[in-house]
This record gives sequence, C-alpha cells and structure tokens, in this order.
Amino acid sequence: MEKRFYLETFGCQMNVVDSERIVALLEGVGYRQVAHAADADLVLLNTCSIRDKAERKVYGHLGRFKPIKDENPSLIIGVGGCVAQQEGQRLLDKIPYLDLVFGTHNVHKLPEMVRDVEENRVRCLETEFLDRETRLRLFPERSEGDTISRFVTVMQGCDNFCSYCIVPYVRGREVSRPSGQILDEVRRLAEQGVREVTLIGQNVNSYGRKEPGEIPFAQLLNKVHEIAGIERIRFTTSHPKDLSDELIGCFGSLEKLCWHLHLPVQSGSDTILHKMNRGYTRQQYLGIVQRLKEACPQIRITSDIIVGFPGETEQDFDDTLSLMKEVDYADVFSFLYSSRPETAAAKLSDTLTKAVKQERFDRLIALQTETSARIWASDQGKVLPVLVEGESRQGAGQLFGRTTWNRIVNFTGDRKLIGTIVPVRISRVYKNSHLGDLKIA
Ligand code: SAH
Ligand code: SF4
Ligand code: F3S
Repeated sequence: MEKRFYLETFGCQMNVVDSERIVALLEGVGYRQVAHAADADLVLLNTCSIRDKAERKVYGHLGRFKPIKDENPSLIIGVGGCVAQQEGQRLLDKIPYLDLVFGTHNVHKLPEMVRDVEENRVRCLETEFLDRETRLRLFPERSEGDTISRFVTVMQGCDNFCSYCIVPYVRGREVSRPSGQILDEVRRLAEQGVREVTLIGQNVNSYGRKEPGEIPFAQLLNKVHEIAGIERIRFTTSHPKDLSDELIGCFGSLEKLCWHLHLPVQSGSDTILHKMNRGYTRQQYLGIVQRLKEACPQIRITSDIIVGFPGETEQDFDDTLSLMKEVDYADVFSFLYSSRPETAAAKLSDTLTKAVKQERFDRLIALQTETSARIWASDQGKVLPVLVEGESRQGAGQLFGRTTWNRIVNFTGDRKLIGTIVPVRISRVYKNSHLGDLKIA
C-alpha cells in the first residue's frame, strides 16, 4: 500500500532545498506527498530557529498534530532542520508523541530512520555533524522538477559568527561545493527548461575561499553566465565584508545577472556593527553601495536590519535610519532582536524595554514603507522584461513572472509563454506585486 507524507517547511532557502531533497528521498521509498496532515502516515516539519518566534512556532504546529495522532496512533511525527539541530534530545523529551528528530546534516538518513520507526516503533535521533568529505559527497543535487526558476546550492554552513546569529551553530562550518559539480547541475537544469538560477548559501561571497584551488565566486558567476539556456542569474545571501570589486563589476558586465542585490546591513551604527561582529563599518558599506550603483545604475538593493540589538542607543538607531535613506533600499526585512542560545550576544545585557524596541521598529517600517512605495511606483507605465514562471493563482489565462528586480507581475497571456522573457507594461503597482499588460512587439 502506498504511504503518504505531509511536509511543512519554515525558514530560509537552505531549508527549501533540503525539503526538496526530503521529498525526493521519501518518494524513493514509496511515499507520496499529500496536502493535509490528517491524510498522512508521516508528518514532518523542517524547522527554523533564527529567532525565538520561529522556534516557538514549531511547538505550536506540533500541538496541532497531537489530536491527529490520538485518532491514528500509527502516525509518525518527525522534526528536522535548525530547531532539530539545536534541541536534539530535548525535543524528544518535551514532546512525548514525537517519533524522530533529524539534524541539518542528516537529511540523507531520513528513509532509514522512518523505516526504523515503522518496523521497530522506536524513537530516533540523528543530529551528528558530518565531516567535510562526507558533506561534499552529500551536497544536495536535484535534477527533477518542472519549474522555470531554481535554487542551486553553492555552499553550506557559515563561519562568520555574527554575534546574534545561531546559524553557525545549527548549520556547522562553511563548505563550498566544487565548481564543476555546480556547473554540471546548472547545465542539466538548463536542458530541462530552467531559465533562472539563484545560487544560494549563507554567504556566497566567500565561496571557494577555503577550498584550495577553487575559483572565487565572481568567476563562478562568469561560468554560469556562459551556460546556454540560462537567461537570468541571481545569488543570495551576500555578506558585505566579502563582496569583492570583481563581483561588483559583474553587475556591469554580465547581462544575465539581475539588477538586484540583497545586501544585509543589520545596522547603520559603527558601534553596533562592531558588537555584531559584522566586519565592516558604515562607511565601508556605503562605499560598496556607491560602487554597485556606479557599476549598474539600475540596481535595486534590499537589506535585513535588526532593531533593538543589546545596548542600541537612540543615536545608533538614528544612524540606521540615515543609512537607509542614503542607500534608498527597495525593500528591507526588519527584525526585532531575539536572543539566541549559545551566541555571543546572548551574554550581553539587554536593557532596552520592549516598548522602546517596538517604537523604533515602527519608525523603521514607516520610513521603509514610504521608500519602497516610491521606488516600486516608478515602475508604473514602464514596459519591463518579465520572465514568465507559470500560471497565476488568479485564474485561467493569468500568468505570473518576475522583473529583473524580483518583483512579481501578474498579467493575461498564453501558457505557451511560460519560460520566456516577454515585455509587459506595468499598469498597477500594489504593495507586493505589479499588474501588467503583455506588449506584443
Ligand atoms: N546569512 C544571511 C542570512 C541570515 S538569517 C546573512 O548573513 O545575511 C536572515 C536574517 O535574520 C539576518 O540577516 C538577520 O537580519 C536576521 N537575524 C538573524 N539572527 C537574528 C536574531 N538573533 N534576532 C533578530 N534577527 C536575526
Ligand atoms: Fe548568521 Fe552572520 Fe552567518 Fe549570516 S553571515 S548566517 S547573519 S553568522
Ligand atoms: Fe532558519 Fe536555519 Fe535558515 S535557522 S534562516 S532555516 S539556516
């Protein structure tokens, strides 16, 4: 009898890629994915622990599965990803109806673990970090699927130890995947009809630096650029301290490279940047932004900002607002600082009140809402090239795609256009997407 699994994914692109791998592995052992936990024999959560709220969500979701398991005691419930890595045995101790916990380096063991639970009704835990060689061998490779735009993993882990961040603890040391393997994967994807690749890793700018003889990231981009069939290239995430001049130059020289860069600044204050262990100053960051705009005047930059880092003064926060104005970000993802276990910042005394943090957060959002609205409104009336990714949920005959700035555009058109770049006149600008009309040349 065919078995069914239900999978929910939280967090960043790393988890998205791992989840694709989970799907492939489970399908390989006779499981089929279903849309509702109530219909499943196996329920999995691929979790994120970047902030306390994300971690708490896991417990909330697990609670929802409890009544389903009460009804169906043979249901297997598992947790993977960063909370699994962080909590390990503690998760099993806290949640008596949980059957398996697999860490960020143990996705490949899932089929074996599931079988063990099925056959022996034991509880399983695998959260060992793997050595470099094994990780290199197990780099996620996914050549299935029918999407136009795909993530390709170029590196895993992070060695930066920003003082607030849990990622180095839950994802382990940085390893770069051999460039030959990456290029092979991109070539295969191109042959299957993929037109856009996003090269992903926690800090792609330091790609290859720790692997003897490996090419730097800017050269990897150049090689991906040569692959026929790939029309657009993106990459994320970039760490400002590792953004080389050669890489900045790519925005001027590589025409497939989209005019968008996500370049998280975290704070505009030198004092806070130093306490965050970010490795650059406000002035250095602004210098990079200036060089990017010189290399590619059309570039739009987005960022992540943390509000209320321990000890953040009113002056520090004003420095963040003024930096935002100077850069003119197209979008900012802002987060209230959340203390994370094991991190260096968790030891700093956090004297700011919740009200002060929230008030600053609201001011930041107000500023960014205004800036984003102005920047996206400037697309109104323009004819922009849109890579058509699929049919939109709006209904029959409706397509969606993205501009070079990664903005979704919905418009009416024929399915046959999927996978091509078409000119679309932007007719309406909403908060998170555009509406447009296909311009037939
Ligand atoms: N590797 C990427 C992304 C890391 S996580 C990078 O370096 O940019 C995504 C964002 O979450 C970070 O950029 C940061 O803004 C935010 N973040 C990470 N840890 C946090 C914490 N403890 N509290 C609040 N926000 C956090
Ligand atoms: Fe976290 Fe910093 Fe690494 Fe990004 S670069 S994952 S913020 S430690
Ligand atoms: Fe979250 Fe883990 Fe990514 S903590 S942001 S899912 S690396």
